[in-house]
Amino acid sequence: MTQHLFSPISLGGLDIANRIAIAPMCQYSADDGSASDWHLQQWMTYALSGAGMVTLEMTDVERRGRITHGCLGLYTDHNEAAARRALEAARTVALPGTVFGAQLAHAGRKASCQRPWEGGGPLQPGQDPWQTVSASALPFDQGWHPPHPLTEDEIHTLIEHFVSAAHRAERAGFDYIELHAAHGYLLHQFISPLSNRRSDRWGGSLENRVRLAVEIAKAVKNAVPKLMLGARISVTDWVDGGLSVEEGIEVAGALKDAGASYICCSSGGNSPDQKIPAGPGYQVHLAEAVRKAVGVPVRAVGMIDDARQADAIVAGGRADMVALARAILADPRWPWRAAATLGHPFKTAPQLARATSLHRHWLAA
Ligand SMILES: Cc1cc2nc3c(=O)[nH]c(=O)nc-3n(C[C@H](O)[C@H](O)[C@H](O)COP(=O)(O)O)c2cc1C
Repeated sequence: MTQHLFSPISLGGLDIANRIAIAPMCQYSADDGSASDWHLQQWMTYALSGAGMVTLEMTDVERRGRITHGCLGLYTDHNEAAARRALEAARTVALPGTVFGAQLAHAGRKASCQRPWEGGGPLQPGQDPWQTVSASALPFDQGWHPPHPLTEDEIHTLIEHFVSAAHRAERAGFDYIELHAAHGYLLHQFISPLSNRRSDRWGGSLENRVRLAVEIAKAVKNAVPKLMLGARISVTDWVDGGLSVEEGIEVAGALKDAGASYICCSSGGNSPDQKIPAGPGYQVHLAEAVRKAVGVPVRAVGMIDDARQADAIVAGGRADMVALARAILADPRWPWRAAATLGHPFKTAPQLARATSLHRHWLAA
């Protein structure tokens, strides 16, 4: 049967109202990892958007894993309580069939940076920088902090941090966990040959490089079996000698075998030398390739902002879901507009229902 943007979907036993996902987006507005009133309004807005799947921003499993001083975390009791407060509020207004996920992450060598609107570069002396960590002692770029390569013991402690954050996510009320293994953050730093030059069992062959992500996926799945588990990967580094699409497909397969019920197929982020051919739907072919080769449900992302474009990706069997980031920031009611464009019935909160006809009206104008 042909699916469309508003067909329901079930991932790892979790029922989702439609195929529209909000992609994770850092807000750089947390207080030592704790969600603030900014998150409260943001998560409530997402809850009313009509998107079936809401993956909240990169949420770091330890303090030094944050990109910036403002990044969200789940490493203290206070972080957990603050996340629970914002999530409970979001659920009071969420449309039926909306599910919420925590994207568990560690920034590795891309940690200790300024917020984007403060420059985005590495924190300078006087800005409270910290020692970063990675697979190898290779900084992201010239002028970036040289990372400390994690020892065997430190890798085991890191896996425990992911497990502890997963327990916190479950207690805070999330429906699923997404492992962030993309965009040049720590798990991707291990996966990519550009940043991993280790010669132990965590480096060298692809099997060794993906081991950390796989071990974390298995440990998290084991720790919180009631939560659905997914993963976001960079399918390619877009750099000669970096992670190729063929290897990216193998990474997806390994994560599926480790318990991931979907793979979000993104790309890049691990090298300043990347050459990304950005344009509408520029990563959809990566999702399509993973879906075909691995047989795992996939989420496509990247410059998908038009309802007919999004619907065609799902209806054409290229991806099971689409994720939108900037389009949702620009228009948090995008799913209402998509429903009007595609002629699908759409129910929103009764307080807002009288507004839905305006989208049809605007389309006709
Ligand atoms: C403000 C902002 C914050 C982002 N933060 C995250 C994040 O926390 N985790 C992540 O995996 N991707 C993050 N991304 C990447 C998006 O999830 C998405 O993959 C990317 O923006 C491409 O989708 P788009 O063209 O719909 O914006 C962020 C993007 C933006 C614009």
